[in-house]
Amino acid sequence: MGFPRQRLRRLRHHELLRDMVRETNLSPTDFVYPLFVTYGKGRQESIASMPGQYRWSIDLLVKEAAEAKALGVPAVILFGIPEQKDERGTSGYKKDGVVQRAVRALKDAVPDLLVMTDVCIDEYTSHGHCGIVQDGKILNDETLDCLCLMARTHAEAGVDLVAPSDMMDGRVGAIRDALDQVGYHDLPIMAYSAKYASSLYAPFRDAADSSPAFGDRRSYQMDPANAREAIREVELDIEEGADVVMVKPAMLFLDIVRSIREAVTVPLAAYQVSGEYSMIKAAGLQGWVDEEKVMMESLLSIKRAGADMILTYFAKDAARQLHHA
Ligand code: PBG
Repeated sequence: MGFPRQRLRRLRHHELLRDMVRETNLSPTDFVYPLFVTYGKGRQESIASMPGQYRWSIDLLVKEAAEAKALGVPAVILFGIPEQKDERGTSGYKKDGVVQRAVRALKDAVPDLLVMTDVCIDEYTSHGHCGIVQDGKILNDETLDCLCLMARTHAEAGVDLVAPSDMMDGRVGAIRDALDQVGYHDLPIMAYSAKYASSLYAPFRDAADSSPAFGDRRSYQMDPANAREAIREVELDIEEGADVVMVKPAMLFLDIVRSIREAVTVPLAAYQVSGEYSMIKAAGLQGWVDEEKVMMESLLSIKRAGADMILTYFAKDAARQLHHA
């Protein structure tokens, strides 16, 4: 039975009816707000390639996170920018490291906010790679120790969830064991499972000063041409104990989001990365697109593809929009 009996426009005329038949709804509770935290006091440094995003010292980070929470955003994820970097990224797993201190400060000042941390050494290494480097190679197994130490110090600081983003093989299992050994059985792991070697991370690397000093990340992050391999990554991470899995980036990888949603039952996160944010911002600032509308449409597309939660630099703006709608 088709036209003229069937008229799909019938359900589109009335706004209230459109609302009632809408298949996907965004809510501020879908969002995780990524924040860059750095040393010092009273610092709010702008990031040239990410207008509207900043590197925060802990005192100001707490205020920013509290604002996000007040807008209904339940969670933040922290990225640390340390004062000193070295070959092994040791400042990333110090008890009084910048992220460890930030976690304590946030749990203290905004106790009802979920605090997540990125677990990866690239922001702390002098060479900018996500692993220990030897003879120009990124070593897998040697890196696991650093990641375990980092996850443990985050746990001791009181973090609510750890999120390894390094793409070393076996890291989810290693971190799970390291946490369990010291009693953190209940601390969840969100694995950056399908993390692609994407060009969309450039503004983040600008923010964290973490561009690799040589080579690129293609020997550990996934080839953007591969879709089936994403399912393998996800299955392995689940086997190793991942509680939530992630696809990153989001917008250019929505087919991956959808296929993982269909393949597994664990909660799925998608990361709308720095480059996605900056492209929308840039076009908006030029007046070429309506930034707010494209922002909401991009977030909706990620949710529609099957993500349960979205890591997005737009978290505050989008939450504000949703309150006004
Ligand atoms: C690695 C990490 C990166 C991002 C999140 N975790 C950078 C990279 O892999 O080079 C990128 C996030 C973004 O672009 O917003 N610690």
